[in-house]
Amino acid sequence: MAEAFDVVVIGAGPGGYTAAIRAAQLGFKTACVDDWKTGDGKPAPGGTCTNVGCIPSKALLQSSEHYEHAGHAFADHGIEIKGLGLDLKQMQARKAKVVRQNNEGILYLFKKNKIAFYSGPARFAGGSSVGSSGESTRGADGWTIEVSGSGNPTLTAKHVIVATGSSPRALPGVAFDNRLILDNDGALALAEVPQSLGVIGAGVVGLEMGSVWRRLGAKVTVLEALPAFLGAADEQVAREAWKLFAKQGLSIELGVKIGAVSVKKNVTVEYTDAEGKAKSAAFDKLIVSIGRLPHTAGLNGEAVGLAQDERGFIAVDEECRTNLANVWAIGDVVRGPMLAHKAEEEGVAVAERIAGQHGHVDFNTVPWVIYTSPEIAWVGQTEKQLKDAGTPYRAGTFPFMANGRARALGDTSGFVKILADAKTDRVLGMHAIGPLVSELIAEGVVAMEFGASSEDIARICHAHPSLSEATKEAALAVDKRSLNY
Ligand code: FAD
Ligand code: NAI
Repeated sequence: MAEAFDVVVIGAGPGGYTAAIRAAQLGFKTACVDDWKTGDGKPAPGGTCTNVGCIPSKALLQSSEHYEHAGHAFADHGIEIKGLGLDLKQMQARKAKVVRQNNEGILYLFKKNKIAFYSGPARFAGGSSVGSSGESTRGADGWTIEVSGSGNPTLTAKHVIVATGSSPRALPGVAFDNRLILDNDGALALAEVPQSLGVIGAGVVGLEMGSVWRRLGAKVTVLEALPAFLGAADEQVAREAWKLFAKQGLSIELGVKIGAVSVKKNVTVEYTDAEGKAKSAAFDKLIVSIGRLPHTAGLNGEAVGLAQDERGFIAVDEECRTNLANVWAIGDVVRGPMLAHKAEEEGVAVAERIAGQHGHVDFNTVPWVIYTSPEIAWVGQTEKQLKDAGTPYRAGTFPFMANGRARALGDTSGFVKILADAKTDRVLGMHAIGPLVSELIAEGVVAMEFGASSEDIARICHAHPSLSEATKEAALAVDKRSLNY
């Protein structure tokens, strides 16, 4: 006998588990199926984000930043440290504990919300004889979902939400072995600090993981195909980041073309540089972080006629509807930024749409954060995007070196920039590089969501001394009336 549900969510990453919680809150009988397990076979819900992404990377970024501060910044505060040492085993154990706390937290939330959780791979029932519409596998109880693993029942679902996430993209012909050629999982799990670390791709993973291992003592070289650094960020922010990363000793080469990668005791990468000159570099380890691919393997989507776009993402409309009736898809497995909070918002919106409500995700106000030091964060449009679109705008910038709290922290690098419409003063973007801008960016998101003007931000009373005063001052600077600069 199959277990009947209103909603079955496949995947318990940030998209899937959040969708399941919202569906259960709305009164639907809900199940969530996820196949991630710990090394010793325990269910580990949370997906890439919790297990090998957002959470463990931020744990290691924090630990490695403490280590760097202890070695280089504490003396300035009058704190002497003698015999500073690195216990990487303990650092990794702490990271594992943080991850486990998050897995357990999600299992607790499933229980609290009366969501049936099944651990194992799920697939749409149906074979090659099923028609392209998939209707033949949809009976009176809805879709049939099979879950492998002993004791798991077959499920039926009136609605299915596919949230199966993404997998790291390998260089053509260079498979990950997580011994010398590392994906994000391997990059987070090193048991020793490599003397030399190569990173292919100066994107978010490359910069964050490159920062972790550089702080812990590796000589890091990042090889990036594009001629421009951090192309998605505001150009002024990207220029500042380039300058600061170079000062920290992170070596980044732009405009390279990767050739042969050979593995012996170490890894040798042949490439041509931006001038077309042939080069070769040998590394103890190589992280390949050149983007991610949608993960649909094992779903049996083809058999039921689930449509994918030309890049392999599950094809969805603006509201995350697939081509199949009552089958929805969210998060990394569909178009749009591969971010945990984007996946979560889509999960909530889909559960609300199933309930006949008007769930909505505004892609213009999805914030981006890169957790390097200094941190980089932005929301909305860049100056280049505004110029290209012919939108008249005014920009206001405020440097952290003029902010009292930043001086007290001993971290005065970077700035906050607000971009506002020249006619209406409506905030069109906020771009920041500096201490804790991952937190400051929320003010820009709120301002944009509420259609605020830069004048609105400028007139809000911000606590003193706080880093958030840099946002207020940047808003004042839009009208050329900064008070402290
Ligand atoms: P996932 O988190 O990938 O979850 C999908 C789940 O579905 C997985 O558990 C998978 O095993 C399971 N699954 C797949 N197929 C099946 C099946 N057939 N049956 C059952 N289960 C299945 N984003 C941020 O916003 N902030 C960050 O700081 C951040 N840091 C990151 C750091 C790294 C190193 C990486 C790699 C990514 C980071 N991301 C970050 C991106 C973020 O992890 C993803 O955007 C997010 O996890 C996507 O969520 P999701 O729910 O779509 O998929
Ligand atoms: P990415 O898309 O951020 O960066 C990949 C980089 O590799 C790009 O700069 C690209 O030009 C470069 N590249 C591609 N092919 C190349 C090649 N053959 N040779 C050299 N360079 C090449 O992808 P990344 O860093 O792998 O991250 C994957 C996803 O995970 C991102 O989409 C990001 O959204 C998410 N993520 C988010 C984080 C955050 O929010 N803080 C942290 C880490 C990851």
